Amino acid sequence: MKILFLDQTGQIGGAELSLLDLLKPFRADCLVALFKDGPFKDLLEQHQVSVQILSNRSLSVSKDSSFLQGLSSSFQLLPLIAQTAQLSRRFDLIYANTQKALVIGAMASYLSRRPLIYHLRDIISPDHFSATNRSLIINLANRFASLVIANSQASQAAFVAAGGHQEITKVVYNGFQPELYQYSSANRSELRQQLGLDTQFVVGHFSRISPWKGQHVLIEALQYCSEDVTAILVGDALFGEDQYVNQLHQRINELKLGNRVQTLGFRSDVAELMSASDLIAHTSTSPEPFGRIIVEAMLCRRPVIAAAAGGVVEIVKHGKTGWLSPPEDSRKLAELIMSCRNHPEQSARIANQAQVEVSQRFHIDTIRQQVRYLLQQVLHCKESGQHIPYRLAE
Ligand code: UDP
Ligand code: GLC
Repeated sequence: MKILFLDQTGQIGGAELSLLDLLKPFRADCLVALFKDGPFKDLLEQHQVSVQILSNRSLSVSKDSSFLQGLSSSFQLLPLIAQTAQLSRRFDLIYANTQKALVIGAMASYLSRRPLIYHLRDIISPDHFSATNRSLIINLANRFASLVIANSQASQAAFVAAGGHQEITKVVYNGFQPELYQYSSANRSELRQQLGLDTQFVVGHFSRISPWKGQHVLIEALQYCSEDVTAILVGDALFGEDQYVNQLHQRINELKLGNRVQTLGFRSDVAELMSASDLIAHTSTSPEPFGRIIVEAMLCRRPVIAAAAGGVVEIVKHGKTGWLSPPEDSRKLAELIMSCRNHPEQSARIANQAQVEVSQRFHIDTIRQQVRYLLQQVLHCKESGQHIPYRLAE
């Protein structure tokens, strides 16, 4: 099966890491076309995946862009659409991994008559998108996509609530390779020593730095925790959120938490750092479409407290495989952190239970099989001349 994958960014976010995991079985015959250069290109090449950069300019359609801006940018998109359509003629399918990839992919699919798959990794709601962009995504997906793969039931439900056709959607969760998340206690102690945190209770926060990822919620929570509770913030501002970074540092200073918060920037040793933490906090203030870091923390057998919204509630069973905290409630988060710190045996039991569950439920092999099956269905429908959108066989 020859697939042209499209992604709008050269940065390494969850959508890109998920795509890398997913496409490996197809890599002999696939190409990833990126609309921007960046470290994701190098990562794909390290994994022997063919990559092509289609444009070095950033697309000016932003999540909250207005109609007029959108219209003017659509003219800038024409060369990119033509390039993508031309390229797609060498492939059986076009696979759009992000929202802007959908815009380009839809037009290319129309021109080259190649079926379009849209991997929906966003919650299409006012929290995340302007009215113009919600309507653009929904209309393009309804009109041009043969299949919309939603990364959670929450993403699927928001798509349908915004007017998306339910019958073209399927939920496929993100997949993981459990053996990549196993670290010995010797590794753990060494890393804690390097970070100067061997006697602290370490709360790890792993996410790109962005207001909706809610790093501030954890910082606020620290003031209500005992002095030994320390946070490591792992991740970078990938999409120009410098103002938020400054606000975070200002708040850390105001609360005199400089000696209890370490910012480590983007790291490629997330699993090691998670294993070195005592607890992982997820604090998104808007509904998280899926939340890879939650499953990763569970695979590392670390207790997790996560913000109860979006796809997160499909992953975490409160009190059984982790804890759910109301988004933006730093006092409740602090209470849960202290409870986890004060009851290490209970926390370890829950973390063990979570690891067993997610190792099976989100195993990459199962997820790859599900996607392959769906893509075969799409090709089969095309070959047999069935109209699309169509109802996917169960
Ligand atoms: N991540 C990483 N290095 C960092 C911070 C995050 O490799 O410094 C990875 C993290 O392990 C996870 C992904 O980035 O796999 C983030 O995915 P998630 O679904 O949690 O959030 P997104 O950023 O996609 O909204
Ligand atoms: C997006 C979402 C995140 C999800 C990832 C992979 O980046 O924000 O929640 O885990 O895609 O599907």
